[in-house]
Amino acid sequence: MSILVTGGAGYIGSHMVLSLLEHDHDVVVLDSLVNSSLEALRRVESITGKSLRFIEGDIRDRELLDRLFAEHNISDVLHFAGLKAVGKSVEQPLHYFDNNVSGTLALCQAMEAAGVRRLVFSSSATVYGEVGTMPIHEGLPTGTPTNPYGRSKLMVEEVLKDLVKSDSRWSIALLRYFNPVGAHESGLIGEDPNDIPNNLVPFISQVAIGRREVLSVYGNDYPTPDGTGVRDYIHVSDLVDGHLCAMQAIARQPGIGIWNLGTGQGYSVLNMIQAFEEASGRDVPYNIALRRDGDIPECWADPSKAERELGWKAKRNLDAMMHDTWRWQVNNPEGYRS
Ligand code: NAD
Ligand code: UFG
Repeated sequence: MSILVTGGAGYIGSHMVLSLLEHDHDVVVLDSLVNSSLEALRRVESITGKSLRFIEGDIRDRELLDRLFAEHNISDVLHFAGLKAVGKSVEQPLHYFDNNVSGTLALCQAMEAAGVRRLVFSSSATVYGEVGTMPIHEGLPTGTPTNPYGRSKLMVEEVLKDLVKSDSRWSIALLRYFNPVGAHESGLIGEDPNDIPNNLVPFISQVAIGRREVLSVYGNDYPTPDGTGVRDYIHVSDLVDGHLCAMQAIARQPGIGIWNLGTGQGYSVLNMIQAFEEASGRDVPYNIALRRDGDIPECWADPSKAERELGWKAKRNLDAMMHDTWRWQVNNPEGYRS
């Protein structure tokens, strides 16, 4: 049996594929390469010494999906494919809903037709919206995401919940990621943003290597210890381990499982700058800018449900996240184009 990884050439997906191969799974990757490079998968093969099957295509292409399920004996689907740039989702809502929501519908329809009913979905802490008290646990109601990207994640969660209600043979994990950062310890694969990075850690890292001059810190007047935004940063390799545990859990028990994947520890923007400077030995010049639209002051997980039910806990600390990011950046100053 094989595992289908949609979006497997992307940042998190490529780390997932690497881990699956290391655990002796057969892997089929479906990716349109709209935000990724095949080079990531070549490197995964070279690190593991194992090969995978790659299909270039779109999750919205139902005929392609039907062919894929007919040709490969798929047991589980890990569904990473999606567009994730918050700002672009505001400019192009139809494109985002089509890709993220219609794409997932097409995937689930093809799975249903093929009798494959185990799915792990990449959701996001953004589905909680703005929460009054920290940490965030899964028992809280979902809130109002502040942008179409976030709403697309919430819509897909609702669709998947209804699907499980309609047919108890489905087994679905909704994994709500907090802030994935870091890179594989080899320094050979990592996050490779196409454009100017939206996210904090890739931006800091590009400032440290000299690709960008200065970091803008979006607001220092939040009600947080140092006034800057606080988030729960989680090492991508820990995140991937969480998926392996979730796959086992949904194989044991059908239904829907919702789990936060975070560390339970919040760090401010200034904490992150300092930690990166220590790990890299470089200065990260910054200035204080206005708050970014749609940002919340703080967000960190209560990860105890995942520990209790999946036997999973994040192991890597902030220092490891920063060192691994820096190793990837130094080895690949221009990302996969280096
Ligand atoms: P990424 O952009 O690096 O990877 C997504 C992959 O999906 C890319 O390789 C892209 O080419 C592919 N893709 C996009 N649309 C596709 C389509 N229609 N058909 C086939 N392939 C398609 O992003 P990532 O950071 O690896 O994120 C993976 C998933 O996790 C996404 O669904 C994202 O929304 C979710 N997520 C990410 C974060 C984060 O901060 N990175 C946080 C929460 C949730
Ligand atoms: N920040 C800066 N300067 C930057 C970039 C970010 O100060 O150049 C700050 C932000 O204001 C925020 C923190 O750094 O306080 C983290 O910002 P990110 O953009 O890295 O992450 P977010 O928490 O805003 O968003 C991330 C993902 C979203 C996801 C959300 C909730 O990018 O996709 O987490 O899970 F929806």
